[in-house]
Amino acid sequence: MRIRKAVLPVAGLGTRVLPATKAIPKELLPVVDRPVIQYVVDEAREAGIEHIVFVTGRGKSAIEDYFDHSYELESQLKAKNRLDILAAVEASRLPAGASSFVRQQAPLGLGHAVWCARDVIGNEPFAVLLPDVIVKGKPSSLKQMADAFEKVGGNIIAVDPVPEDRVSSYGVIAPKSRDGRLISMSGMVEKPPRETAPSNLAITGRYILQPEIFGLLEKQGAGAGGEIQLTDAMAKLMETQAFYAYEFEGSVHDCGNKTGYFEAVLAHALDNPDTAAFALELVKAAAAR
Ligand code: G1P
Repeated sequence: MRIRKAVLPVAGLGTRVLPATKAIPKELLPVVDRPVIQYVVDEAREAGIEHIVFVTGRGKSAIEDYFDHSYELESQLKAKNRLDILAAVEASRLPAGASSFVRQQAPLGLGHAVWCARDVIGNEPFAVLLPDVIVKGKPSSLKQMADAFEKVGGNIIAVDPVPEDRVSSYGVIAPKSRDGRLISMSGMVEKPPRETAPSNLAITGRYILQPEIFGLLEKQGAGAGGEIQLTDAMAKLMETQAFYAYEFEGSVHDCGNKTGYFEAVLAHALDNPDTAAFALELVKAAAAR
């Protein structure tokens, strides 16, 4: 079965990059010429996603406006014949009827945020993309997973090796065996202490899940950090359904913290034809200091 819908939980407060996110959602911070969330939505659409469910909260309505038609702006650009900018603005819009916005109402955790999308997702497999993680890959990380899903079905989560002193910041899997990039698991745990972490393979914020996760999330109590954790419900789903990790090809930038955000800006500036030469000069000058 094909994955048609994706959930983007965008209710998080962005406390790690305050005060930058005091008045604008962290998902709208720019990376070169597009907000972080545009990269994530583009990744979803490249993987064939047709409908995006944004799980939002108070102070996040700018995200809804961002993906809407901006009539005044687009007519002005047309009148001034700024067709290149117009094309970029038009490309940022989501097609009419292809997005939904539901409110999480209380910051109870990622598991609770995903559960809030249950009615819009219904009874079909779906994707989850964490909106402050940009994954650079060709094809995109979710596309690689969707291709694997077409072959093996079940549930698939993206993983990426991280330095051992960083494992306690992530969900971490216990790998069992491997077939190419596809990994069978014996378990997973949210934010384990370094000493007891089952591996250094961290869950990176891209998921393909079966709808049975919603029933488990409904009953899921608070876990790490006092929050309802998606990882805990996935660990239970793994007891009854096929569940794989996928070590994708690409690089991960977590824009929810200062260094990850800076890394994302630099990586995209070095890639963008308008800024690449200048960014390279700056890097060389900085290295020579
Ligand atoms: C969330 C997930 C965690 C995952 C991480 C990736 O944690 O709960 O399993 O490894 O995203 O960025 P958070 O960063 O929201 O604390």
